[in-house]
Formats: sequence, structure tokens, C-alpha cells
Amino acid sequence: MNNTDLVFQSYGRCCRKDEFFVDFYDFFMSSSDTIRNRFLKTDMEAQRHLLRNGIMQLILHARGMSDRKLKALGESHNRNHYDIKPEWYTLWLEALLKTVRQHDPDYTPELGKAWRDVLNPGIDLIRGAY
Ligand code: HEM
Repeated sequence: MNNTDLVFQSYGRCCRKDEFFVDFYDFFMSSSDTIRNRFLKTDMEAQRHLLRNGIMQLILHARGMSDRKLKALGESHNRNHYDIKPEWYTLWLEALLKTVRQHDPDYTPELGKAWRDVLNPGIDLIRGAY
């Protein structure tokens, strides 16, 4: 199996429980008050569903799908819209990896590395639109 298959299946295991997304935002918001403050007025229930799809888009991008949806995320997150600073994506990825480690019963350090390698190009695309 290649990395995108491994990550696709790992994400399937993570998505079995909604707590995956609850825990992700707990970890991510604990990264800093600046991050937490960005979500003060956000409907987190809706946001968790949007993120479920957003992570899928990152994985599909690595599997060769069109850039259209990630470009739209790059636009909504850029300096003219949510104004998400490029350096915050590192915190985002670390929070995600921590959540995967906790939720995927088949987690290994190699799988963690596969997650990073698979997601990074899509994250670069969104961050690069800043
Ligand atoms: C590659 C990583 C990320 C993905 C896949 C992602 C995904 C999403 C998605 C799917 C949405 C909803 C659709 C939209 O409004 O365009 C969203 C909204 C949002 N994201 Fe991200 N995001 C990422 C990184 C970040 C980071 C690093 C921050 C930093 C705080 C952030 C803050 C927000 C905020 C504030 C909203 C709007 C919330 C609201 O509607 O109140 N995102 N994100």
C-alpha cells in the first residue's frame, strides 16, 4: 500500500468517532490564545463537520484530485478573509497528528510520517495563498 492509501484508511478509522474532531479542536485551540480567539464566535458543531470534509480534501489532493476546493480554502483563509498566518499551519498539523496518534488504534510512527508527507502539499497550497 502506498502512503495515500495508508492515510486514507487511517482517516477512516479516526472518523468512526465524532470525538476525533472534538479532540482535534481542543488540542488546536490549546496551542495558543491567538488560535482560540479565532473561534470565539464559531459554531463548533458545524465547524467539526466542515473540517471532516476539509481533511478529506487534503487527502484527495494527494491522490491527484483537482485543486479547486483547496484553492477555495486558500482564498477563505488568506490575509483578506480569515487572515490565518502561515506559521499557524504548523500548529494545525501538530494538533492533527496528536489526535491521529490518540484515535487510530493502528497508529505507528511510520504512519505519522505518512500523514505528514500526504498532507503537506495540500497544506502548502492553502498556506501559500496567504
Ligand atoms: C490545512 C489546514 C486547514 C484546513 C483543511 C481548514 C479547513 C477549514 C474549513 C473546511 C473551513 C470552513 C470552510 C471555509 O470557511 O472556507 C474552515 C474555516 C475556518 N478556519 Fe480553517 N482550516 C485549516 C487551517 C486553519 C488554521 C491554521 C486556522 C487558524 C486559526 C484556521 C481557522 C479557521 C477559521 C477562523 C475558520 C472560520 C470559522 C467560522 O466560520 O467562524 N484554519 N477551515
